[in-house]
Amino acid sequence: MKSLSFLASLSLFPLIFPFAIASDPSPVQDFCVGVNTPADGVFVNGKFCKDPTLATADDFFYTGLNERKDTNNMYGVNVTFANVDNVPGLNTLGISFARADVAVNGQVPPHYHPRASEILGVSEGTLLAGFVSDQRLFTKTLNVGDVFVFPQGVLHFAVNIGDVPAVAFASLNSQNPGTVFIADTVFGSNPPINPDVLATSFQLDSTIIRKLQAIFGPSTETILNF
Ligand SMILES: *[C@@H]1O[C@H](CO)[C@@H](O)[C@H](O)[C@H]1NC(C)=O
Repeated sequence: MKSLSFLASLSLFPLIFPFAIASDPSPVQDFCVGVNTPADGVFVNGKFCKDPTLATADDFFYTGLNERKDTNNMYGVNVTFANVDNVPGLNTLGISFARADVAVNGQVPPHYHPRASEILGVSEGTLLAGFVSDQRLFTKTLNVGDVFVFPQGVLHFAVNIGDVPAVAFASLNSQNPGTVFIADTVFGSNPPINPDVLATSFQLDSTIIRKLQAIFGPSTETILNF
């Protein structure tokens, strides 16, 4: 009797939790346009998998994150990613890593990762890190040994407020987190968004918008291609 009512309550389970099997897997690229014939296709959600008997330790290895990178650019920053593009063993594992070099007064400008939360730890210098959620700024000064978390898809930035070059390492929970820089995206699209539209969006004169488009436009070499 007892087991029967247990079975009965079990059969109600899908009615109480109907959502448990109702979602698509999270995409690991910006888009994946459907095609009718597989011959036109490239990949589904990640990359093709190597025959596991052919995998080697090198597929899971990356070296060079000890090196100080050149930060002589408009932001004073250089970010090196270890993601599925240079560590193929990360495919399907949902994790990646990065090193950021930030010059004195340099910054990682406002951006977000569409597919990953991030935990950032400082190993040299001092960074002021922040993210904005619902127009609330969450910010912290990070000294060596401190970490800060940026939730997935949330706008964040970091500035070197110390007097020595800063180094930080970050883990992100996607093999391909993606990075959307706000200025490059809004003012640097190709073709450009109509400046009159952006003039209203930002409540600025359209000549200022055109100046911003000249700075961030596709003809300008982007330094932030990670
Ligand atoms: C980052 O550093 C490397 C090596 O120092 C350099 O080749 C590259 O141009 C730098 N990138 C930027 C955006 O400054």
